[in-house]
Amino acid sequence: MGVGYGYGKTILFGEHFVVYGMPSIASALESKTTCKVERIEGNTYVLVDERPATPGYKKEKFEEQAASIENVFLAAGLSTSGNPVRITFGGDLKAASGVGASAASCAALARALNDEFSLGFDDKRINEIAYEGEKGYHGTPSGIDNTAAVYGGFIWFVKNLSGGENTMELLKIGKPVEIVIGNSGLTSSTKEVVGDVRKLKEGNPEKFGRIMGEYGGIADNARHTLQAYDLHGVGKLMDRCHSLLQEITVSCKELDLMVEASRKAGAYGAKLTGTGRGGLMVALTPGKSLQEEVAKAIEAEGFFAIRTKIG
Ligand code: PMV
Repeated sequence: MGVGYGYGKTILFGEHFVVYGMPSIASALESKTTCKVERIEGNTYVLVDERPATPGYKKEKFEEQAASIENVFLAAGLSTSGNPVRITFGGDLKAASGVGASAASCAALARALNDEFSLGFDDKRINEIAYEGEKGYHGTPSGIDNTAAVYGGFIWFVKNLSGGENTMELLKIGKPVEIVIGNSGLTSSTKEVVGDVRKLKEGNPEKFGRIMGEYGGIADNARHTLQAYDLHGVGKLMDRCHSLLQEITVSCKELDLMVEASRKAGAYGAKLTGTGRGGLMVALTPGKSLQEEVAKAIEAEGFFAIRTKIG
């Protein structure tokens, strides 16, 4: 039997701006997806998906998941028909939009195949395979999700717009810190929202250029404040980043409500995370008691809150 894992992630800085070559910072979550691969008789794989999930998620993603599994096998130099296995996904990462659940499962499968078939892949190769798997879910992923899923920790990521190798650096921080992730319960299409931002950029290049310039400063600052473990500084930059994301129209009233409620409850900073117009927000809440206060404030507004850690 081969086994593997992949981490969930949250984007702390740089969603949308990463598409245009700006730096982004993501952190793996402590929750993981695990994968077991066992050889069986038959013509193809058998899938047992035991991951906890948002209702409807697995059904909605079923076809994309099948495409992704084929891609992972192919990229690993295997075929689903030539190498029949039982694939069992599990772990404590709740499969939902915005936490990198798809990338986590691709990384976990790539690792499990590597283990079972003694393929000798290093993390760099596992990451490339997980990226191919991600393409089964959405055509042109920036690569940040699979990178966080494979390496864990904090990641500084810059997409190479010429198609060459992306820049990826692991950032070290003092110690893990509590966060709360608020779930709006609304699903949005990454493809659609990214498309709308592109229209905005093309329609008003001056305004977009000003916003990108300001974001660039935030990203560099965020890197330094994180490494200096200046959490109040990081929180302020998250707040500023949320305002820029509002300006490019990717927030919505539910996300703004959770962001406001988190700040009122004492969060050091809060912003939307991922695609936006639904999906998730993240609040920086060092310490168990602040984390609980903020989570309760989000729940009091009628949303779900996940208590977890980054770093
Ligand atoms: O919604 P998520 O967590 O998959 O994040 C999407 C992030 C974008 O920057 C909007 C798109 C991308 O490919 O990086």
